[in-house]
Amino acid sequence: MKDMMKALTAQPDLTLAPGEARAPGPSTQDLLQSEPSNAQDPALLTSSDAFLGDEDLPFARYTHQQFFDLEMQHLWPKVWQWACREEHIRKSGDFYTYDVGPYSALVIRGEDNQIRAFVNACPHRGMALTDAGSCGQGKQFIRCPFHGMAWHLDGSLREIPGRWDFPHIEDAEFGLDEIPCETWAGFVFINFDKACEPLEADLGVLPEHFKNWGLEDRFVSVHTVKTLPGNWKMCMEGFLEAFHVLGTHPEVIHTASWANTQYDVFGPTVTRFLQTVATGNPNETQSQAEIYRLLGYTDELPDGTTAREQHAQHQRAALGQRFKTDLSAVSTSIMLDSIEYHLFPNACFFPGIQIPLIYRFRPTGLGTCIHEVLLLQPVPEGAPRPLPAEPIHLGMNDSYTQVPDFPLAKVLDQDTENFYRQWAGMNASMKPGQTLANYQEVRIRNFHNTLDDYLGQVEAVPLIFK
Ligand code: FES
Ligand SMILES: [Fe+2]
Repeated sequence: MKDMMKALTAQPDLTLAPGEARAPGPSTQDLLQSEPSNAQDPALLTSSDAFLGDEDLPFARYTHQQFFDLEMQHLWPKVWQWACREEHIRKSGDFYTYDVGPYSALVIRGEDNQIRAFVNACPHRGMALTDAGSCGQGKQFIRCPFHGMAWHLDGSLREIPGRWDFPHIEDAEFGLDEIPCETWAGFVFINFDKACEPLEADLGVLPEHFKNWGLEDRFVSVHTVKTLPGNWKMCMEGFLEAFHVLGTHPEVIHTASWANTQYDVFGPTVTRFLQTVATGNPNETQSQAEIYRLLGYTDELPDGTTAREQHAQHQRAALGQRFKTDLSAVSTSIMLDSIEYHLFPNACFFPGIQIPLIYRFRPTGLGTCIHEVLLLQPVPEGAPRPLPAEPIHLGMNDSYTQVPDFPLAKVLDQDTENFYRQWAGMNASMKPGQTLANYQEVRIRNFHNTLDDYLGQVEAVPLIFK
């Protein structure tokens, strides 16, 4: 530990161009490329560095109501966002209501099996057709609870009580207001902007990278919904880097490779971190046998194998048995590692088996947001797809440890407890902006650049936000 800290706290090499420096010692790629099983996952054997500048990023982007209002006007009604999983709406008439700020979409499967999304507002006098966050099954049609007007599942008008009193409307023009809806990897995406580009443009490398990882063949085994005390961007950004592991997750600093985690920028909308686990960090002197013990094993590490490979072997067998599926051919990296892809603006997808997280962040106010966590577990071989887990709602002060079968509870508690102080400090700061690391926090900068692409079309975004 002492050696590692000495190497990591040494002054930067000023002969390097900004953004070129990396943690001393072997890189993530050095490790991944040395493990034969990872050859089947070429997406993990690439890197895509970016240096996006080193100016401070204004706190006002998080703490000012005016910036929040700009996002509500120019981001959320214009951007693709995932609304639900396809498994939430399996059959004709199954629906899911997705909301962000004032915007609401009713996502429903039609009799023709097609999934459509409609603005969740009655064309008559604006009544929401379903409650915020609600889902349900087997609707024959969509009836507004106020005056009883009804629509078919494809959004076309079915009936208007007192039709005689509406001579001024055409049936064909009184359908529900349909908005773009597409699917990827078992997720249903919606966009409130009818003139948006296809989802594909935002997904970037995701379909290619995820093509062997089968998220569409997994099911939601745990689903949590928790309110967090901070602006949605601040909370989300707490999950975009592994730099905080040293300060926040002390129990894994000798096993998870936080110091040399890889950070990739694949374009304006997709970034990634690749954090290997069961490896230790460069410049640490502990032996493989010691890492193996830190992972909780009491047997001897066989000669000629690393703690990580042995751990992966155990996990293939143990999780394969638990999930009733054959994991023997899964690569070591997909089996073990913390691999997080972020899709602008608010979603993270982890393709790993041991760390199979999906995150979504939605603002509920300037200083509060909702963070959802889904665990995606492989569907048991030869068995029907289990029903998706019911969401478990957690209050701001509730611990994730009260969620059954949630192995990452303690880590998430540590992450989310930080936000009280960070939000307080962001608001208290007399320094106008945060100072980001060039490499380890580049995903945050990339996110803000893309956010500016949305807000940049707005005339006179105040200078305090730039
Ligand atoms: S508001 Fe929906 S039927 Fe009147
Ligand atoms: Fe964390």
